[in-house]
Amino acid sequence: MVGFTGVSKSYGTVRAVDGLDLHLHPGETVALLGPNGAGKSSTLDLLLGLRTPDSGRVEVFGTTPRQAIARGRVGAMLQSGCLMQEVTVRELVRLACDLHPHGYPVDEVLERADLTEIAGRKVNKLSGGQEQRLRFAFATAGASDLIVLDEPTTGMDVSSRQSFWGSMREQARQGRTILFATHYLEEADEIADRVIVLHRGRVLADGSSAEIKAMAGVRRISFTLDGPPDEAALRALPALTGLDVAGRTVRMRSTDADATVHAMYGLGLYPRGLEVAGLGLEQAFLAITDAATTPEEA
Ligand SMILES: Nc1ncnc2c1ncn2[C@@H]1O[C@H](COP(=O)(O)OP(=O)(O)OP(=O)(O)O)[C@@H](O)[C@H]1O
Ligand SMILES: [Mg+2]
Repeated sequence: MVGFTGVSKSYGTVRAVDGLDLHLHPGETVALLGPNGAGKSSTLDLLLGLRTPDSGRVEVFGTTPRQAIARGRVGAMLQSGCLMQEVTVRELVRLACDLHPHGYPVDEVLERADLTEIAGRKVNKLSGGQEQRLRFAFATAGASDLIVLDEPTTGMDVSSRQSFWGSMREQARQGRTILFATHYLEEADEIADRVIVLHRGRVLADGSSAEIKAMAGVRRISFTLDGPPDEAALRALPALTGLDVAGRTVRMRSTDADATVHAMYGLGLYPRGLEVAGLGLEQAFLAITDAATTPEEA
């Protein structure tokens, strides 16, 4: 339903999207992760036909992005872009509903975006989080099959964020496909069926959040020792990728926890309260993107 085939896009000498192959399946909720400048917004802009690729092809519902949008099949919430000022929230939402080929009733859209109470307010008087909710109302003003959201919850407070994702889950239950870029990894972890990590315009990892965590392959090991830790000895343990000693508490990272722990006992150390755990999505993400940044680039 959405297909990127060998898509590249540069701005001058900056390669924002680099030979991207990406396919979305109907009904998926997909999170797009990546550090600042990874190419998330550029990818979404290409998908929405706001930019044209230098090479490769972008297809949306078997046609061009612009045609798919004209047919009302795609709703979008962009990271930037001004809202019309000096009109009320209701007037602007009505415009969005009227423009959509399969628009919903205005009141329904206002309610869903939690805007009913401030429907009479001028757009230029809204707070940052309220503006985000208005952008969300735009994305859901009509029955679209695909909803594209670029960092939708930036600036929203906790309860707005929760009600936002509540209504997104409802959209997903109705069979909509959702693609969203975010820096909130817990959102990706909780909401998405599939997580795609972008870095320098390429896909670094693509899978469920559990798979992404496993892909990082790193385990955290922590314990305390009876006496002061011998840092040099610990540092020489096999498969170690990180060491942090605070008093008698030791935290390590290892790519092979079995080997590391085994060697530790071999040194005659007796760790107490030994814990071995996988990484959270956030740490997995950092491990994956760090590994992709070679030292001369960093
Ligand atoms: N209009 C533009 N002109 C020149 N360079 C651009 C333009 N838009 C984006 N870039 C560059 O392209 C790269 C990718 O930018 P993009 O906005 O896609 O990143 P992003 O992943 O959305 O980042 P963020 O998390 O900060 O939103 C960056 O290096 C950025 O500086
Ligand atoms: Mg962006």
